[in-house]
Amino acid sequence: MRGGHGWNQTDFMTQTYRIEPGGFLNGLVRVPGDKSISHRSIMLGAIADGVTEVTGFLEGEDALATMNAFRAMGVCIEGPLQGKVTVHGVGKYGLKAPIQPLDCGNSGTSMRLLAGLLAGQRFSVTLTGDDSLRKRPMERVVRPLREMGAQVASQANGLPPLVLDPVSKLKGIHYALPMASAQVKSAVLLAGLYAEGETSVIEPEPTRDHTERMLRAFGCAVEREGNVIRLSGGAELTATPIHVPADISSAAFFLVGASIAPGSDVLLPDVGINPTRTGIIDILKLMGANIELQNQRVMGGEPVADIRVRHAQLRGIEVPENLVALAIDEFPSLFIAAAHATGRTVVTGAEELRVKESDRIQVMADGLRNLGVSATSTPDGMVIEGGATMGGGVIESHGDHRVAMSFAMAALRATGPIIIRDCANVATSFPGFTELASRAGLGISCQ
Ligand code: S3P
Repeated sequence: MRGGHGWNQTDFMTQTYRIEPGGFLNGLVRVPGDKSISHRSIMLGAIADGVTEVTGFLEGEDALATMNAFRAMGVCIEGPLQGKVTVHGVGKYGLKAPIQPLDCGNSGTSMRLLAGLLAGQRFSVTLTGDDSLRKRPMERVVRPLREMGAQVASQANGLPPLVLDPVSKLKGIHYALPMASAQVKSAVLLAGLYAEGETSVIEPEPTRDHTERMLRAFGCAVEREGNVIRLSGGAELTATPIHVPADISSAAFFLVGASIAPGSDVLLPDVGINPTRTGIIDILKLMGANIELQNQRVMGGEPVADIRVRHAQLRGIEVPENLVALAIDEFPSLFIAAAHATGRTVVTGAEELRVKESDRIQVMADGLRNLGVSATSTPDGMVIEGGATMGGGVIESHGDHRVAMSFAMAALRATGPIIIRDCANVATSFPGFTELASRAGLGISCQ
């Protein structure tokens, strides 16, 4: 929709990618900081005593939504400037009532973790978000928080906005998570900081453990025994420096792009390889990928490596269900890998994909079929017949950042250009994606 004077506001808000077919990826690709860890660095830094210096912070819209929420609650936060952020902690009870609803934008992590962290505060607060977030299920956090004694109201069907009102006290609970969700686990643990007695969470499957690791770094004793994680209410947090590694979920697009495109050879430095996040590497290796972890080390309590990935002929597999939660954000790109693998790939046990930024099972299956790939959605996954020629075509990303970036990589092996609509939300997790991908060899441009 071009106006006489160039792009109008709608174009800017929605953004379309055009990717020329073919090519390969090469060289050093430094992806931005981890989104999950960036959120948590602000949240824990804000309620700690003292000043928390964060480096490697993700300057993406989701993490910035968390930052703005704490600024609106009176926390002085400097930056971000080249990944550096300084959080002047106000202590557990130092937050102030915001004068308007806190806007979590597109970010489920902001809304669900904030719900837990704010459930025990002494003021009322409303949490809202964009059109996508306002369609995402919140009863999964509302239910355990109410069990803890919190006053939390959602809209009909458990949807946002959430309204939290103060209560005299929260009590610790022992909560068996009905689904593998790090956001729900984290919401309960953060509320547990404000509760009387012990709070514990039982996970059906291991999920990302950044909250637990970072709470320990801030001096709070969090214990793990098998699939039970527990902490005691009343703990105070003490500021500590946080280094945010590069996000393996952003690296994933390059792991898949380089794997499928002959001639590719990419080095991704300083990527977080926390074992609760490395399902993408395990699954790609089962498919025959050529991925090497170099220079493994621990930085700020999180394991990190430089990851080298070279092209390899992938083969279809049945994805083991025990790897699903460990790769939950990487399925959009894994579906692309499967389309370019020989033989059939079957994904099961991944029904959580239906309640992400979009219904990632439906949206990815629709997109793959548009490009001529045989992809059949199932209630909890997908069956993809790989190895056929992928054509070009138009993809609706439904405003889902990971869908957009995954289809961008698919063009490396397509026979015609791929046009992807509604890509502005790539900025929620991966600012600078088009420049970085283009420098690495992807024929991508914004229209
Ligand atoms: C996240 C947890 C996951 C993930 C999301 C980030 C987190 O969500 O999909 O992108 O930072 O805790 P669920 O808890 O809904 O699985």
